Amino acid sequence: MKFFIDTANLDQIREMQALGIIDGVTTNPTLLSREGREPKEQLKKICKIVEGPISAEVIGLKTEKMVEEARELSTLAPNIVIKIPMTKEGIKAVKILENEGIKTNVTLVFSQNQVLIAAKAGASYISPFIGRLMDNGQNEIDMIRESMVIIKAYNFKSEIIVASVRNSRHVIESAKSGAHIATIPFAVLEKMFKHPNTDKGLNAFLSDWEKLQTKLRK
Ligand code: E4P
Repeated sequence: MKFFIDTANLDQIREMQALGIIDGVTTNPTLLSREGREPKEQLKKICKIVEGPISAEVIGLKTEKMVEEARELSTLAPNIVIKIPMTKEGIKAVKILENEGIKTNVTLVFSQNQVLIAAKAGASYISPFIGRLMDNGQNEIDMIRESMVIIKAYNFKSEIIVASVRNSRHVIESAKSGAHIATIPFAVLEKMFKHPNTDKGLNAFLSDWEKLQTKLRK
């Protein structure tokens, strides 16, 4: 299973990249605006830190505009993937861009029907937003499972990126369902490393070791 980091913050990306567990990055207009920098320059910097796919989203709503923006964004770096919203206009853009060899990530996906459409259009990646479904009182775990069932049933080339991840349980459910990728916020990645018994156990080992050293010195 691949881990992407869901942020446009360079420090967060560098920190997780240094641990060797990051395979890609997803950004969106909100995440980029949070950084307050020129978006294209920020994206270029991100592409230099992580070799894997870096998602950058188009703003246009019409197919033509999306395709134009996507072509421009794809010149920033070879690992740029274009995020396209799950609309009729977006789906037309996906088909055009994938035919040109530009990889797309269909975003703002909230239903299994939308997964099926995006897969049929030939998207390289599809991002179901499970946290926002959960916020809405809908079953986000079924969304992950059934997305994978659909992709596997027809051997679609699209990879599922479980997005809008809110907690470490979401990552476990994604892994159990065989999701190709989870895009995980920095704070959730940090929590995934930790367990109170690890710290407690380590302290006990070190203290017992110290006791032995003191005894041997006598
Ligand atoms: C990733 O591709 C999405 O943009 C992101 O996961 C959305 O997360 P949010 O629902 O926390 O904004």
